[in-house]
Amino acid sequence: MNEQNNLFHYQFTVTKKDRQKLHGHKSCVLWFTGLSGSGKSTIANAVENKLYELGISTYILDGDNLRNGLNQDLGFSAEDRKENIRRVGEVAKLFVDSGLVVLATFISPYRSDRETIKNSMSPGEFIEIYVDCSLENCEKRDPKGLYKKARKGEITEFTGISSPYEKPVNPEVILNSNQYSVKECALQVLDFLKANHYL
Ligand code: ADX
Repeated sequence: MNEQNNLFHYQFTVTKKDRQKLHGHKSCVLWFTGLSGSGKSTIANAVENKLYELGISTYILDGDNLRNGLNQDLGFSAEDRKENIRRVGEVAKLFVDSGLVVLATFISPYRSDRETIKNSMSPGEFIEIYVDCSLENCEKRDPKGLYKKARKGEITEFTGISSPYEKPVNPEVILNSNQYSVKECALQVLDFLKANHYL
């Protein structure tokens, strides 16, 4: 396929469509983006539980978890976050190709990085879910004590404090976690998936 670097894309005969048929549902990525402490992982966990009960094959790719393994060489500079999201976007695509419903939970602060992944997937496969929670509330919750450290200058380039977060312009779903419970947010995602014939 790419003769310049002597790489050739082998067309394997079992396709994404075949694997989706085997699983009995479409595959896609539910891309949760939002500030640290906004509730991305907690809500994704609740959504995955519901999907599991419905017999849907899922997998969660989570920022904190992947940064302990695949991305342990990356920090939080703009460049490293871009590489973090590029890599996990590629992994998410492989999982979607394997026929799963992927739940990806990353701050993913840059709009262009999220758009690049969306544009490299088939229409409808990338579902952007903005977990909308005010900085004030995230800081009040501070589940990992990181905002406190960031305010003291013990953590640099902290999202929302000393590093930017670019809100999605046109996300498929907005979950207002200031106002709604984890359960209500999870149901909102399930309703979206049902209404749009993913399930
Ligand atoms: S992203 O910006 O590259 O998308 P990612 O979602 O993988 O970030 O990781 C964010 C998690 O790393 C946070 O939930 C938090 O636990 C931890 N973390 C450590 N340092 C920082 C920092 N400077 N900014 C944001 N999150 C940080």
